[in-house]
Amino acid sequence: MKIDVSLPGGRARVSRIVIGEDVMERIAEEVGKALRGRSVFWVWDESVWSLWGKKAQSLGWPGLDEGHVIPFAASEPGKRLTAVEFIARRMINAGASRDSAIVAVGGGVTGDVAGFTASIYMRGIPHFQIPTTLLAQVDSSVGGKTGVDLPEGKNLLGTFHQPVQVWSDPRFLSTLPDEELRQGMAEVIKSAVIGDEVLWKFVENHSESIKKRDPEALLRIISASCLLKSRVVQADEKESGYRRVLNLGHTVGHALEKLTGYRLRHGDCVATGMMAAASLSMRLGMMQPGDVEKIRNVCEAWEMPVTIPRSIEPADIIAAIQADKKRIGDKLHFILPVHIGKVMEYTEIDNDEFLDVLEMMRGE
Ligand SMILES: NC(=O)c1ccc[n+]([C@@H]2O[C@H](COP(=O)([O-])OP(=O)(O)OC[C@H]3O[C@@H](n4cnc5c(N)ncnc54)[C@H](O)[C@@H]3O)[C@@H](O)[C@H]2O)c1
Ligand SMILES: [Zn+2]
Repeated sequence: MKIDVSLPGGRARVSRIVIGEDVMERIAEEVGKALRGRSVFWVWDESVWSLWGKKAQSLGWPGLDEGHVIPFAASEPGKRLTAVEFIARRMINAGASRDSAIVAVGGGVTGDVAGFTASIYMRGIPHFQIPTTLLAQVDSSVGGKTGVDLPEGKNLLGTFHQPVQVWSDPRFLSTLPDEELRQGMAEVIKSAVIGDEVLWKFVENHSESIKKRDPEALLRIISASCLLKSRVVQADEKESGYRRVLNLGHTVGHALEKLTGYRLRHGDCVATGMMAAASLSMRLGMMQPGDVEKIRNVCEAWEMPVTIPRSIEPADIIAAIQADKKRIGDKLHFILPVHIGKVMEYTEIDNDEFLDVLEMMRGE
């Protein structure tokens, strides 16, 4: 499947996402073509390089044997400016110029860091993404956001730099740990709740084949999620409004991540955040209890947390959200589900009501 994300600008820009079971085999030829004579530098998550590097070499991906592979120890604590400098210096020393391009192979950390480096290397060179985690295939490789963290917070430095092409092969997920698959699934479930009832039905009925990494099932969820995200991004690339629907579950989710010192994983926090948004929506009379139950059941089938840990005070969640809002200099835009496949933006949250909902969500 091919999805072309057309973006406005001085001249039309298109970012192409190719998803398929034969993508690995097609990369040599297609990336070769798309490079149009540029020299290529590969930024690989070093774990992915050790799992998949030989396969890529055997398939003849261009430039892998010319000292143009930059293995990078991808991890959230390592998603820093020093990583950008490390990659850029390796490139300079290997002769990269303004006529080079970067291909990122790995999860969201690798894609964000490599994309950021590409956006500022000699004032910007093209980049390509080969996402290898479910989260990267359904979320971070689409939309052109790049960046690194500061000790003060995640993704505080970054750019918009659309990849020329994204190559997603579900077979990469055969080596992905279950815990990582679950983090990506939270974003798939989110996409379905935002705007795809067909995807929702599929996820409800096929969790076992997804867990077994059945390529067909993976293709379905990756394609549908990318399609949804690309439609939203096409309508609002720089998040001036509509793109915020993608933040469903993320308002409470980010607060939970911060309050647990990032011990709770992003996808898990998004699942709890989605439950909070759904519960609030039900409280406001917008969502039917049956729909809230459906979301809970799917999250539970994936062993995602649907309650707020006892150790966290609901008032602290609200305070963390307010602090975030102040930092971003914006009002609180709460994305609430109305039914599965439809969300709306809500800006007038009553703190007491919200506190009540969070209180009722506290678990053990
Ligand atoms: N740019 C965006 O729009 C956007 C959107 C969502 C998230 N993000 C960012 O994405 C990052 C999270 O991405 P992630 O969850 O992919 O994390 P990640 O890149 O850290 O990868 C998770 C783990 O999986 C391993 N891994 C990757 N591919 C593998 C494979 N095929 N087999 C075995 N192991 C593999 C990695 O080595 C790592 O340990 C965060 O930094 C987040 O801010 C960006
Ligand atoms: Zn997310």
